Amino acid sequence: MGDAKIEALRKTRPRSVELYSRAMESLAGGVGHDLRRGHPLPLYMSHAARSRKWDEDGREYIDYGMGNAALLLGHAPPDVCRAMGDALELGFHFGNDHPMQLEWAELIRKLVPCAERVRFVNSGSEGSMLALRVARAYTGKTRVLRFEGHFSGWHDGVGKGAMIPFDQPVSAGIPPAVLDTIEVIPAELDRVAEVLEKDRDIAAVMLEPSGASWGTGPLSVEFNEKLRDLTRAAGVLLIYDEVITGFRYAPGGYQEYSGITPDMSFHGKIVAGGMPGGVVAGRADIMEVFDYTGDAHRDRYERVHHLGTFNANPVSTAAGIATLKRVATGLPHERANRLAERLRQGMDDILREEGVAGYVYGDVSIFHVYLEAFPGSGASGRERLVTRDVNVLKGIPAPVVAAFQKMLLARGIDLVSYTGGVTSSAHTDEDIALTLDAFDDVIRSLVRERMIATLK
Ligand SMILES: Cc1ncc(COP(=O)(O)O)c(C=O)c1O
Repeated sequence: MGDAKIEALRKTRPRSVELYSRAMESLAGGVGHDLRRGHPLPLYMSHAARSRKWDEDGREYIDYGMGNAALLLGHAPPDVCRAMGDALELGFHFGNDHPMQLEWAELIRKLVPCAERVRFVNSGSEGSMLALRVARAYTGKTRVLRFEGHFSGWHDGVGKGAMIPFDQPVSAGIPPAVLDTIEVIPAELDRVAEVLEKDRDIAAVMLEPSGASWGTGPLSVEFNEKLRDLTRAAGVLLIYDEVITGFRYAPGGYQEYSGITPDMSFHGKIVAGGMPGGVVAGRADIMEVFDYTGDAHRDRYERVHHLGTFNANPVSTAAGIATLKRVATGLPHERANRLAERLRQGMDDILREEGVAGYVYGDVSIFHVYLEAFPGSGASGRERLVTRDVNVLKGIPAPVVAAFQKMLLARGIDLVSYTGGVTSSAHTDEDIALTLDAFDDVIRSLVRERMIATLK
């Protein structure tokens, strides 16, 4: 392979090195997802159960990644596995509708406030794509207003805004004409009002209601309330990206948690119980864009055309139903939230004790760690700089983030991405205690190695 760092791992992670050399031959970019690149090797998992997972070299991890936050109930919950197994045996892909799809839809309608009608898709990104198409069809307008740092999938229609610098495309290969349909501004209400006043071609405001990148740059409920008022007054649709917040912030997602009902939302991850799947939910009059009316001209030119070989496939549907039945009780949230609160508090105490210029934050079962890079400038006296500025919170230098992730991994802790993670109802008090020990160790090392700033 030729890379000295990787060769050095041949003794301790022989199987991972071997798999990586095969991956470099056959997988474009060497991995299946840009965030899986690793330091310097990707992780290769062999199996997972509850809050833990094991790699091909036999290393055990306490998992705060939880399948990119798709697994509120932990890995391989028996009831969800059983439901999928039962569905498999009945034939796993009909290419037709089936009664389970209706049960899934009915559960979602019961839980999610804006879900008067739903339409199934295969991922969060597909939900984002379809929600935009629906908004454009319903309003007859084209553009979407988004906020700096918000991530709503990898498709071209949201190909600007998620990554610093926020005004630049997130990828090569996105047509300029598509980029022109996206307006990205800081999450400031006066800026929203200004754009909605000036630009009459905005179909929708689309955002992660908890804030940029699953709350790395947090937004308040008050912000969301005012945004609801502004969009309503301007006749612009408000679309919540509930791919992470959905079924996690509360059984009914951020909408239930905040008491704010958007016009539409889209969901992935938990909605399909950690299987591929997603849903677009919305007000009945908006979702009428899918209906056939019998008017040939309208049905050919004005309705929303939507296909998808695997939409609501039986296995994802079964996993979704089994998971949402547990979600509906609110019990998984009670446990996951309590453990996350312990983790946030414990980590924040460690940062204080070590005098680190950083802090830990997050809602419900989510935690984010902000660390100021060495030498640091924001900390004065014993005051810690606490900010909502997404440029700062998403701007921890890449070498600091990489060192933090790598040191945690070496101590058997995996995250979702960047410096944050999620708990599940399968995590335990023991997991939290072990994680806090590892975190303490990592923070001391980062201070010693002059990677992160301390308070003066
Ligand atoms: C907030 C948010 N929106 C959309 C997506 C895209 O979902 P998917 O990866 O299922 O396409 C993600 C994925 O992480 C996400 O976090």
